[in-house]
Amino acid sequence: MRYRTIYALVCLLLLAVTGIQADNLTSPISLVPCPVSIVPGTGNFRFSAKTTFAVENEAQAVEVRQLTALFTRAAGFTPRIKVGSKKGDICLVTDAGLKNESYKLEITPKRITIHAADAVGFFYALQSIRQLLPAAIEGASASASPSTSADIDWAVPAVTITDQPRFGYRGLLVDVARFFSPKENLLRIIDCMAMLKLNKLHFHLTDDNGWRIEIKKYPELTEIGSRRVDRPGKSFPDRRNPRQGEPTVEKGYYTQEEIREIVAYAGERHIEVIPEIEMPAHSNAALAAYPLLACPVVNKYIGVLPGLGGENADVIYCAGNDSVFTFLQDVLDEVLKLFPSKYIHLGGDEARKTHWEVCPLCQARMKEEKLANEEELQGYFMGRVARYVQGKGREVIGWDELTNATIPKDFIILGWQKYGEAAVKAAELGHRFIMTPARIMYLIRYQGPQWFEPLTYFGNNTLKDVYDYEPIQKDWSQHTASLLMGVQACMWTEFCNAPEDVDYLLFPRLSALAEVAWTRPERKDWKAYLAAMDGFNEHLAAKGIVYARSMYNIQQTVTPRDGRLEVKLDCIRPDVEVRYTMDGSQPTAQSALYVRPLMLTGTKTIKAATFSAGKQMGQTLELPVVWNPATARAIKSIGADNIGLLVNGVRGSLKYTDSEWCSWMKNDTVSFTLDLKKPEAVARLTLGSITNYGMAAHKPARIEVLVSADNKDFRKVSGKSFTKEEIFREGTFREDIPFEIGEKARYIRVVAYGAGLCPFTHVRPGQEARIYFDEVIVE
Ligand code: ACM
Ligand code: ZN
Repeated sequence: MRYRTIYALVCLLLLAVTGIQADNLTSPISLVPCPVSIVPGTGNFRFSAKTTFAVENEAQAVEVRQLTALFTRAAGFTPRIKVGSKKGDICLVTDAGLKNESYKLEITPKRITIHAADAVGFFYALQSIRQLLPAAIEGASASASPSTSADIDWAVPAVTITDQPRFGYRGLLVDVARFFSPKENLLRIIDCMAMLKLNKLHFHLTDDNGWRIEIKKYPELTEIGSRRVDRPGKSFPDRRNPRQGEPTVEKGYYTQEEIREIVAYAGERHIEVIPEIEMPAHSNAALAAYPLLACPVVNKYIGVLPGLGGENADVIYCAGNDSVFTFLQDVLDEVLKLFPSKYIHLGGDEARKTHWEVCPLCQARMKEEKLANEEELQGYFMGRVARYVQGKGREVIGWDELTNATIPKDFIILGWQKYGEAAVKAAELGHRFIMTPARIMYLIRYQGPQWFEPLTYFGNNTLKDVYDYEPIQKDWSQHTASLLMGVQACMWTEFCNAPEDVDYLLFPRLSALAEVAWTRPERKDWKAYLAAMDGFNEHLAAKGIVYARSMYNIQQTVTPRDGRLEVKLDCIRPDVEVRYTMDGSQPTAQSALYVRPLMLTGTKTIKAATFSAGKQMGQTLELPVVWNPATARAIKSIGADNIGLLVNGVRGSLKYTDSEWCSWMKNDTVSFTLDLKKPEAVARLTLGSITNYGMAAHKPARIEVLVSADNKDFRKVSGKSFTKEEIFREGTFREDIPFEIGEKARYIRVVAYGAGLCPFTHVRPGQEARIYFDEVIVE
């Protein structure tokens, strides 16, 4: 049924796009990323035990064998490959006129012809065939259930596809330092990358939380650096630093043999594995093993960090100690032998210079090298290591903090902060760059309405946010645009505790990244992508990957409008219906269809879900909207992100970025004024607040409540102060703070005085504590 719907959609779309008659297409054409052109044909090509591939040479046979191996496993037969032959059902033909990586694929009921200039072009054409096949091609049904596989029609639709990528660099970072992905899971991710025609795996192998690659010359890097203490039940930012002598039970690293296997597996799929060896910061795991490589002024225990690190995140390699460079060169010598990649990533992000500022060795280095400040010392550090790597014939990549100092020669900049502005700055200086803006491309953020999501960092990067990303901005010069190598998504794993958690955050967003990286903007079409992605997701499911269905969930927006509340129920998928109830019953396919915002004037519980063809697609949103005299009243504040949230009848969840909590740009003093429209007897005002210790969300130091009849003269009627112990309590919890008033009032003003900086013992020492309120309840 679902196939048919997709098929109908895709046909309609293709007809609209191509204007070509496709009267008897019999299966859907769903390809992610969307090719340059798809012209549908008539009928199907069927694979069977008799199918033969004719290839010109052994190199082509190598590519074809990757597809025929899938048939062997899933279908129980193996199409034949004839090397040096021009006669076959599927012919591979070199066309030197085509660009690298591009291909032309012609499928007719009788024959398939693939033209490409290089091995990777043929590989991508074969990956397109793989996606066009029934998803069962990913399974192992031949051995498990021969009868089922015999029933499958191994057909692909007749079609002519011409294709080539938009960007040469189409990347994914996988962080195996925070969560160590078992090799098998990593290989499966690599295979999915190949299906999506991604070609760079940025392998984040070392960080404060683990050193994951065997280095023969420095065995302690893995003996000590790949193990850390466990903090069961604590999320990453809440995990306290290790104490000396604590057992280290969390562990994992790849042996050199396993690294070679990973690199070879990726290489067969035309994916370059780019190792990242972090420096000078994010190096607690290395320094736990070799503490003498830290500045000699560091006088605290250095352990592999289980979480954010707090005050230990500033423990970094000493820039004045030549042994550090010898060590890094030795490490890189082994890394270079293991990774044949053109690029090596040298880190360079988030280096706090607190120790460099007071370290005699670092200061002596600055003097000797005539460096103006510690940022320039980092420039020296990165430049020195970069020259070593460049001297071995490789190119270097670094995070965009390298722009804080003179950028060493020929560094390629990976733009991550905000929207990647720093990388653009580097480009203006002539550096090549890659975009992975955290605001869009960090897959650690929530991918859907947060009420339904497992805990992760903060903020949203939905499937649609990733899909809609356009890296090239209108105000870029042509020269800047010409230096953009491509785009990358980053799978940071701080909140992953099992391989399934990584899969969940990766899929299906990785397919949206592929579309950004491969497909030209003029070919992008959200609806067509969704239909194709549904087909791709079936392949994921057949591979045993449980992908996120967050794209089917409903995001509520409840906004005060002149004494009423406007309730919007949005789903990023336009191909589903939103149905809702307001009588407490569960929504069904027969419930009221949501077509426009609902207007409320009193307490109601809305229940809503998305449906397609009578089937519920997402989770049920249960939204109690609870009215009190402050609800939907006028409220004003300076510097608030969205002050209306305080009076929208909806309580924030335990996730402080769930779009129901109100926050302020500056947290020293925040205030808001509520207008009850006429004088009312107010017995009490209750203010909801959230503490999220790990993210430095805390109650203010003091709150005052004032009242006024004219919005001019305000009189304090109530207040509360909190001690440091009360404010900086560990955990994530909500609190309702009541204020007795017992007065008639029209205007109520709440003034909150921030708690200042988090104390030294905090997991975020010295960071400003942020205030989050929701909701205001007047009785
Ligand atoms: C980064 O997210 N620190 C590169
Ligand atoms: Zn130093």
